[in-house]
Amino acid sequence: MSRTPIIAGNWKMNMTVSDSVDFVKELAPKIADYNNVERVVSPTFLSLVAVSEALKDSPIQVSAQDAHWEASGAFTSEVSVSMLTDYVDYIIIGHSECRAYLNETDEKVNKKAKAILAAGLKPIIAVGESLEQNEAGETEAFVSTQVTAALDGISAEDMANVVIAYEPIWAIGTGKSASGELANTIIGGVVRNTVRDLYGDDVADALRIQYGGSVKPANMEEYMSQPDIDGALVGGASLKVDAFTELIEIASKVKGN
Ligand code: PGA
Repeated sequence: MSRTPIIAGNWKMNMTVSDSVDFVKELAPKIADYNNVERVVSPTFLSLVAVSEALKDSPIQVSAQDAHWEASGAFTSEVSVSMLTDYVDYIIIGHSECRAYLNETDEKVNKKAKAILAAGLKPIIAVGESLEQNEAGETEAFVSTQVTAALDGISAEDMANVVIAYEPIWAIGTGKSASGELANTIIGGVVRNTVRDLYGDDVADALRIQYGGSVKPANMEEYMSQPDIDGALVGGASLKVDAFTELIEIASKVKGN
C-alpha cells in the first residue's frame, strides 16, 4: 500500500501576517518540486487569508490550527469550519496544547472531525500520551481510546480524508524525540491497528499517520525510514525556511512515491 507522505508545519502562535506571507513566498519556490510529498503550512487564523492568497498558484496546501463545529453563533473567539473552507485544505484538531490549555476534549475533537469532513476538508487529528501516562505504561490504552473517540460515527468512506498525528506530549517542543522505532511501534501497533479493528484492513492500510514531537532535519530520516510513519507534524523546525525545506527533501527522498 503506497501512501503519499504528508509534512505539515504547525506554526502555533508565531509570525505576524506580513511575516507569514514573507515566509511562504520564500519557502514556496524551494519546495515546489517535491510533488511526491504533500506539503502543508498551518499559520494562525489571522494569517490564513493572506497565506492562502500568497499560495494560490502553488502546490503547497494550507491548514488551520483549529475550528469550531457549529457554523455560526454565540461562541466568542471561535472560528467555524464553514468560515475556513475557502482558505484551507486541512484543519489540525486535538493538538495536545489545545487539549491542555483550551479544554479540547475527545468529544469536541469528534464533533470537529465530523464538521470538517462534512465541509469537504480534511482533519489532522492529533493524539498522544503524557510523560506520566507513558511512564505508567498507559500509552497504548490511552492512545487507542483517543483514536476511537475521535473517529466515533465517521464513515469508512470519510476515513480516506483523515490524517492522524501521533505526538507524544513529552516529545513536543522538548528536544526529546521518540526513537523512530518506538514511534513506529505506537503508530503501526496502536494507531493503525485501532483503525484496523474499527474499519478493517483497507481503511487502516490507506490511512496516513504522522509522527510529531521535536522532528528536525537531523532525525527526519530515522522517522521517514519507518514503514508505518507517513509524514510529520512539525512545530519548531517548520518556522525556519531552510529546516522545513530540508524536512521535505528528506521525506521526498526516503518516502516519496
Ligand atoms: P515540535 O512541535 O516539533 O516543536 O516539537 C510539534 C507539534 O506540536 O506539532
